[in-house]
Amino acid sequence: MTNLKNQKLMLGLTTALALVAPAAFADEMPPETSLSGLDVELIGREDIYSYGSLDSYSEAPMLTALVDAGTLPPVGERLPAEPIVFASGAMVDGVGEYGGVFRHVIGGRPEGWNWMAGQHQGWGGINMAMQECLVRQGPRWQVRAEEQSGPLPNLARSWSFNDDNTELTINLMEGVRWSDGDPFDVEDVRFWYEDNVQDESVASRMPAGSFGDNATLEVIDDYTFKFVFTSPQSETIVENLAYIQGCPGPSHVLKDQHPTYNGDATYDSYTQSLPNDVTPPVVLGAWVPVVHRPDEIVIMRRNPYYFKVDESGQQLPYYNEMHFRLSTWGDRTAQAVAGSGDFSNMEDPGNYVEALRQSQSDDSPVAANFGPRVLAWRMVLNMDAAGAEGEDEAAMRTLFRETDFRLALSHALDRDAIGQALARGPFAYPYISGFATGSPYYDAASSDYQPFDQAGAMALLDGLDVIDTDGNGLRNMPGGGADLIIPVTVDNGANASTKQLEAMASQLEEIGVRLQMRGVDQTTADTVFTGGQFTAFFSRDNIILPTRESCRSWPSGPSCPHFNAGGERLDFEVEVADMLTAFQSTGDAAEQAKLARDMQRLVTENAYTIGTVQIPAALLVNKRIKNAHPGVPVFMYEWAEDSVIRERLWTAAEDQIDEVLPGQIAEY
Ligand code: GLA
Repeated sequence: MTNLKNQKLMLGLTTALALVAPAAFADEMPPETSLSGLDVELIGREDIYSYGSLDSYSEAPMLTALVDAGTLPPVGERLPAEPIVFASGAMVDGVGEYGGVFRHVIGGRPEGWNWMAGQHQGWGGINMAMQECLVRQGPRWQVRAEEQSGPLPNLARSWSFNDDNTELTINLMEGVRWSDGDPFDVEDVRFWYEDNVQDESVASRMPAGSFGDNATLEVIDDYTFKFVFTSPQSETIVENLAYIQGCPGPSHVLKDQHPTYNGDATYDSYTQSLPNDVTPPVVLGAWVPVVHRPDEIVIMRRNPYYFKVDESGQQLPYYNEMHFRLSTWGDRTAQAVAGSGDFSNMEDPGNYVEALRQSQSDDSPVAANFGPRVLAWRMVLNMDAAGAEGEDEAAMRTLFRETDFRLALSHALDRDAIGQALARGPFAYPYISGFATGSPYYDAASSDYQPFDQAGAMALLDGLDVIDTDGNGLRNMPGGGADLIIPVTVDNGANASTKQLEAMASQLEEIGVRLQMRGVDQTTADTVFTGGQFTAFFSRDNIILPTRESCRSWPSGPSCPHFNAGGERLDFEVEVADMLTAFQSTGDAAEQAKLARDMQRLVTENAYTIGTVQIPAALLVNKRIKNAHPGVPVFMYEWAEDSVIRERLWTAAEDQIDEVLPGQIAEY
C-alpha cells in the first residue's frame, strides 16, 4: 500500500537525500505562537498543603449554631485527628472569611449521583465539589519541577512501593467522615475497586483491568491496603487515582443496592440507585447537593464533616453555598463576563474576542488569563470491526483500520480554515493526534503533520479502492459497495464541536466522503462514547497526561481506547500500548519524555485520531473572589475547578452574595 509521505519523498528528494531522510517526517508542524504570558512562582508540594493537628479548630458560625442546638457534634469531633492543612503562604489573599455563595453556570445536567457506576453530575466542577479522590492532580500546576514526582496526596495520605515495584501500599487518612457522619475507611476503597472498577458489569470511569495491568487489591487494616501488580509499576500509575477515576463512594449506602450484596438488585437498578431528583446524596466533598431543580439549578451547602482546615484552624470551605445554574456552556462565559456568574473556563473561541474585549476594561467584574493550548478537537473512527453490529458497520470499521484511510481524511482537512471558522484571529493551531501542545509531553519534532492536500488524500482513497463507482459524487465502499457515508455522533450542545464538524464535513465532501452529523445531548454523547457505541465520534479532548482518563485516547487497557474497545489491536497500537505500560512503570522523567515522543510519533504518523485544531483557553474569575491565583491554567494536570482549589476561595463579607438557604445543611 502506498503512503502519501513516502510518495512525496520519492518525488521531491534526490536519492541521496532520501537515504538520510527517513528519520525525519516529510512534513513538520507549522510554527506556533503562544498567547499565554503569565509568569508564576512555582513552589514545593508541602507549601500548598500538608497533614497535621492544630491546637484548636473553629468553624463557620452557621455550624456553631447547629452544634449549640445539638444537631451536630463539635468541630473537633467532626474533623480527623490530622486534617489536611492549607498553608497561608500559598494563598494569594490569605486566610479567608466565612459565608456567601460561589456561583457556577454549567451546560451539563446531573445524570444521577452514583458516580461509582459512571454517572456524571453535569460537569463544570459539580462532581469535583462532591467527590474527593485518593490523590489530587489540580494544584500540581504550581509545583516546581524538582518536586513533580507524581500526584499530590488527598484521602491517600502516603504510599510506597515494595522493592521490585510490584506492590503499592497506600495509607489512608484516618478519621475522615462522610457528610452524614459515617466514618470513611478501607471498606469504601475496597468496595470502589472490587465491586465497581473491577466488576465488568459496572460502567465505572476507570475501566476494569486498566489499573496497573489488572491489579488486585488487598486490605491490610482499616486504613491501609495494597495494590498487587502483575508487572512492576511506578509513581506515575498513582495519577490514575485522581479525578473521577479514584474517588470512592459511600459503601454504607451503596452496598445494599449492589447485586453482589443484594439478591433483588440488578446492575441497572444499582446504577440508578442515587437518582438525580433525590437529595442529598452522601459525599466526602466540600459541598453537598441539597436542591436540584431540573434545568434550573443545583444548590449545594457546606459539608460540616469536610476534612480540611486552614492554618488558623478554620474548617474549610469558606463559602456556605455553591450554585450550579443549569444553562449552557456559552452562557457560563456570558454570565462570567456580565458578573452574574463567578467562574468560566472560556473554551469556545467563538466568543473569545468579545469576552476579552469586555473583560479588559478596568470596571469589568471579571479577570481573564490565557494559558497554553490544551483543548484539542478530533474525530475518532471506531476500529472495533469484530464488535460491529451488521455487515455494513463491520465493513466500515474494517476500512477505518486502514492507516491510509485515516491519513486521507487527515490530509483532506484545511485546518487553518476550520480554525478561522471557529474564531478569527490567532487562537487556533492545527491538531493532528496525540498530545496537545500545552502538554509537558508534547514534542513538535515528534509530530508528523498532515498538511492540507486534497489530491494526495484522493490518491490514498483510490489506492484503497474507495472510488465513486456510481458517479453520484460520493465514493463507494471498496468493491463498488454502498456510498461512503459516515455517521458521526457529536454533543449538539457543544458549539465549538458542531461548528468544526460542519466545516470538516464540507471539506471531506470535496473528496467524496460524506459525514452525517448525529447530534445528541451531552449525557447520551458521554454514554455512547464510553460504551463504544458509535461509528465515528467528534469531541474535544485534553490530551495532556497519558494517565488521565486515558481510555479516551490511548490503548491503556483491555477495552481501551473507546474507539477500539474490543477490537484486535493495530500493529502500531500494540507498540503504543507497550510504551504506555513502560511509561507507567518507570519513574524516570527523561525515559518518560522519550516514550511520550515515541508515542506521539506513532499516533501522528498513523493518524490514530483525525485531529482538527487546538486552542488556548482563558480562565475567567470574578474579581470579588479571593485566593484565585492568577496563574491557574484552565486545564493542566486537571480542570481549573480543581486547580483553583475552591475550598480555599472566599469573598469578603461586604461583597458576599445572599445565600438561598441560610443556616441549612444536608439532612439525612
Ligand atoms: C466540562 C467543561 C470544562 C470543565 C469540565 C470539568 O467539560 O466544558 O470546562 O468545566 O467540565 O469537569
